[in-house]
Amino acid sequence: MITKPKGTIDIYGKNAKKWKYVEEVVDSVMEKYNYTYIRTPLFESTELFHRGVGETSDIVTKETYDFKDRGDRNLTLRPEGTAGVVRSFIENKMYGDTMPVKVYYNGTMYRYERPQSGRDRELTQFGMELIGSNDPISDAEVISLAVNIYKMLGLKDIVVEINSLGDKESRDNYRKALIDYFKPHIDELCDDCKARLEKNPLRILDCKKDADSDILKNAPKISDYLNEESKKRFDEVKDLLDILEVKYEVEESLVRGLDYYSHTVFEIKAGTSNLSIGGGGRYNDLVEELGGPSTPAIGFACGIGRLLLALDEEKVELPIKDDIDAFIMYVNDDEKKYATYLSNELRMSGFKVDTEYTGRSLKSQFKQADRLNSKFLIILNSEDLNNGEVNVKNNTTKKEEKVLLEYLIYYLDEHLVDSETDDEFDIEAFAKEQEEKKKKEEKEGKDEK
Ligand code: HAM
Repeated sequence: MITKPKGTIDIYGKNAKKWKYVEEVVDSVMEKYNYTYIRTPLFESTELFHRGVGETSDIVTKETYDFKDRGDRNLTLRPEGTAGVVRSFIENKMYGDTMPVKVYYNGTMYRYERPQSGRDRELTQFGMELIGSNDPISDAEVISLAVNIYKMLGLKDIVVEINSLGDKESRDNYRKALIDYFKPHIDELCDDCKARLEKNPLRILDCKKDADSDILKNAPKISDYLNEESKKRFDEVKDLLDILEVKYEVEESLVRGLDYYSHTVFEIKAGTSNLSIGGGGRYNDLVEELGGPSTPAIGFACGIGRLLLALDEEKVELPIKDDIDAFIMYVNDDEKKYATYLSNELRMSGFKVDTEYTGRSLKSQFKQADRLNSKFLIILNSEDLNNGEVNVKNNTTKKEEKVLLEYLIYYLDEHLVDSETDDEFDIEAFAKEQEEKKKKEEKEGKDEK
């Protein structure tokens, strides 16, 4: 048997329904905030990620899937979405459009990580980028949008950690202070940290291996190195988050694992599972570094697989639909032909309908209808069909009645509103009502002419 590659997942059955539900909520919230959908390639030039995500990030140094195509081009499966979006922003000259450009995406990313629950090599992220504003209102919007998606999904235990890495001057001063501080202790740190010391000492603070060491815990804090402007900016972001009633914690060791960040960085955790379900930050220099005009930007991304784990851990029941409106049952070939016709008619009229495909006995078809949680059973038999009617059974109340074929759609419409009650349906009164409606519509049509 051929099995799936290590670090990948199959999404099917109930989990797939949950997945689709999450995507629907993401689409609808993004729509409300006026973000438009963007789809960029799954693979890009390797150089994009080296220049974009950064030469000192673990993601680029250890985790990318790089390959050469048949034309000898160096390509990389995208490890994240921001670099591709920024490349597209520059290449398509979106900066000529009204700023800011607000886009969101949803797609697979690839990181050669050590797989474990919630950490995959093929992961799906949804995310958004707000390009073309340096105003703290955009930082607050992006963070609260993310929190609102989690809340809309029913997650309650959400921890938002924020920090500011300041502007270039603040970061340069902090960088120097970190090098001075870490240099005498460098032998006590891991090999990765040794390499990070000169290239990007901020990354040492993010080291998973040395996370518990006192050397890291006692390192200088960024807040002591933020210049006045950066401090003021961070204060404004916090004020706006207060207005939006987003609860946050300032986490001074938060530096994030990608090289492009400046000013605001944030990470969102699900408290119950302690899973990091999303993260992002401001990247004011990236557009220019990738060859575009100097343009400030901020964004966020969330791993959908990990989010679903967090929802499960918090025992959140997503309102996924796991039923069908009607199951059409038949036994002989003539009935099968009618079932084929009727299922098509009902589906095209907007009902969710299934039928029999494997020649089961009528008894087994009842079981199948139950397995599919069918609200109504439409039981065809040749005699009824000759009389122009079908037998319809409400699968909750078990009430059965004959319905004229010409009124079947109205009947289902009327009853599906509340199929769990046994309200009398006066089919004759209903038919009269329909006739009158039809006459009125015809008359109105004539009058209009
Ligand atoms: P990131 O923190 O690398 O940021 O990833 C964002 C989220 O993707 C994480 O919080 C986590 O939920 C999910 N994630 C990351 N790696 C994995 C994995 N191996 N398996 C499952 N889920 C994972 C970024 O990717 C930035 N591009 C975010 C951003 C957008 N910054 C600015 N704009």
